[in-house]
Amino acid sequence: MEPTLDQVLNWVEEAGNIAQRLRQNDLLVRHKSKADLVTEADTTIEAFLIEKIQTNFPGHRVNAEESGQHDGDSGHEWFIDPIDGTLNYAHGLPQYAISVAYACGGELKLGVISNPPMREVFYAEAGKGAWLNGEPIRVSQTRELIDSMLITGFRFHLLDTPRSNINNFIRLSHEVQAVRRLGSAALDMAYVACGRVEGFWEIALHPWDVAAGTLLIQEAGGIVDTLYGEGELLRGSVDILAANGEVFSKMQTILLDERAKSSL
Ligand code: IPD
Ligand code: CA
Ligand code: CA
Repeated sequence: MEPTLDQVLNWVEEAGNIAQRLRQNDLLVRHKSKADLVTEADTTIEAFLIEKIQTNFPGHRVNAEESGQHDGDSGHEWFIDPIDGTLNYAHGLPQYAISVAYACGGELKLGVISNPPMREVFYAEAGKGAWLNGEPIRVSQTRELIDSMLITGFRFHLLDTPRSNINNFIRLSHEVQAVRRLGSAALDMAYVACGRVEGFWEIALHPWDVAAGTLLIQEAGGIVDTLYGEGELLRGSVDILAANGEVFSKMQTILLDERAKSSL
C-alpha cells in the first residue's frame, strides 16, 4: 500500500504543532558535537512520524536523522528530517522545517516541507506538480547569474578542510546578486522550487535533508543533481546542486572549475 499526500500533510501539520508547542517552554538540548544539537523536538517529532508510518505502513523502510535506518522493504522508503535547521530552532530563529519524503521503487513520489512559524507548507507529488499552501509553484525564469540570488550552507566538520565550501561561496558571490546562508537545507530547496531564489548548492548533506526538496524542485520545473556527478541523492553523503534550468549549468561550470583549481 502507498501513502496519500493528504495523509502525509496531516502528519506533518501535527508535527509542526509539536515543534511550536515545545518551543514555548525551556527546551531540552543535547550536543552531538559543538555545532550539532539535538532538541527534544527532534526526537519527539521523529518518534511521532515513525510511529505513524509503522502503524499505517508496516514493513516500509525508514531513514531518519536521529534514529538512523529502520529496516524494511527497500521498495517503499521514507526520509525524515524531524527538524531541519535545529540550530536556528534552538536559538528561536523561525527558519526551520519538518521534511518528509516517500519513495517507491527508488523513485520519489511524495515530498512535504513545512515551516510552522511562517505557516508555509510546500509539497509535491510525482507527475502531478508542486504547491505552496495550495497554490502551484514554479522555479524562477531568471536566466543570468548576475540577476540571481543563491543559497548555500557550510558543514561545521568541513570548515578546515579543502571541501569547506568557502572558496565556492567567494567565487559565486562575485557572479550573482547575493549568496545567502539561511540554515535549513530543506527550506533552501523549497525556496528554489517556488522561485524565491534561483539556485542552491551544498557539500556533504544527507538524504533526509534533500529528498523532499528534490521532488519539489523537479515538479516545479527545476533541476537537481549531485554537484560533481558523483554519488547519489538518496544514499550516503550528498553534494548537491539545484536550480532553474538556465542557472543550473552556469553554476555547475563555475563549481566544477573551482574544484579543479583546488585540486591543483
Ligand atoms: C542542517 C541544515 C543546514 C545545513 C546543514 C544541515 P540539521 O540540518 O540543513 O542548513 O547547512 O548541513 O546539517 O542538522 O539542522 O537537521
Ligand atoms: Ca537536516
Ligand atoms: Ca535535523
